[in-house]
Amino acid sequence: MPDLGEADPTDVVFVHSARTPRDIVFRPELDFIAATAPNIRVVHVCEEDRPYEPWGGYRDRLTLDMLRQIAPDFLDREVFTCGPAGYMAGVRHMLSDAGFDMDHHHEESFTFEPPTAPADASTAAATGTGHKIEFTRSGHTIECEADTAILAAAARAGLNLPASCAQGMCGTCKTTLLSDSVDMRHDGGIRPREIAQNKILLRCSRPLEDLVIDA
Ligand code: FES
Repeated sequence: MPDLGEADPTDVVFVHSARTPRDIVFRPELDFIAATAPNIRVVHVCEEDRPYEPWGGYRDRLTLDMLRQIAPDFLDREVFTCGPAGYMAGVRHMLSDAGFDMDHHHEESFTFEPPTAPADASTAAATGTGHKIEFTRSGHTIECEADTAILAAAARAGLNLPASCAQGMCGTCKTTLLSDSVDMRHDGGIRPREIAQNKILLRCSRPLEDLVIDA
């Protein structure tokens, strides 16, 4: 593989926020970049660690103090932010509060699918077309119609699950299916070996039966 650091002298600090270490998207690829590109520093920030993996890195949501430690010269840099709308708004406010010149701040936004089905979670149950979805981490159980993406049904039920794009290509909504099966039509946000490990993208998976999901 090419040495990513030799051709381009650009000085980059890549800060990646994830809920847990196992939610870090493209972690092996990022580790490879960190190991081979001297001009690209990769820093992970995780909100939680156990029971998934002990975490010795930055822990919690990204804060201004953390950012100052990670990139003390951030006021003199260009900042590019990508992620869920709430995350990008948080970074925007953080930079603004720090006196950052927002002319040097850039955001990448994905388009979100507006929910199309009625906001009444009982509809699916009432019509007999729904499946029960149990989320083990949050302890919630919702109803989801067979033609509705799990993420959309969760949002209707008031569950705020991580997501970013609308096309199944970023991997942000990836989680583990603990039982039963889904119809998943993605656009590259998940690898075959992850699918073999029962990973799914909630954004573009529809239930084929009642499900138990690690989220
Ligand atoms: S939100 Fe982009 S693949 Fe799930």
